[in-house]
Amino acid sequence: MSKMPTKGWKCNMSKRIIVINGPNLNLLGTREKDIYGASTLSEIASAVTEEAKRIGMEADFVQSNHEGEIIDKIHEAKGRYDVIIINPAAYTHYSIAIRDAIKAVELPCIEVHMSNIHSREDFRSKCVIAPVCLGQICGFGANSYILAVRAAALL
Ligand code: DQA
Repeated sequence: MSKMPTKGWKCNMSKRIIVINGPNLNLLGTREKDIYGASTLSEIASAVTEEAKRIGMEADFVQSNHEGEIIDKIHEAKGRYDVIIINPAAYTHYSIAIRDAIKAVELPCIEVHMSNIHSREDFRSKCVIAPVCLGQICGFGANSYILAVRAAALL
């Protein structure tokens, strides 16, 4: 993945963030490389944890192909993490259950997507989770995650 410039980004309060990844993101690196690029999820996880550390935060990185497991991760984040970063993958477009979980735990949440979901098929422009998030970052490939870590540092 391409290196983002690092100068000037620091967090003066130690924050714990959890990065939750939804279905099929375990296949990054081989899945639709023309859309999602060549980085694997474990390469992205390393870049995210490194960036978080550099800024003065701690990041954990998880992935699940199952809606209920993602919901459990969101519930467990309460009291353990200060910020949730989530790429809900296809659940973005229809999971009211994930949306309700984020609303319920009352933690600041940032939604990320590697692709620009608003420039793809019409069904991808429908985002049922974004309205309960602070904001959505999409379209920057693997760097969408790095931008989300930096946004978390600014909170
Ligand atoms: C995605 C976009 C979703 O529409 C898709 O279902 C994914 C990946 C992204 O990161 O661009 O699985 O969340």
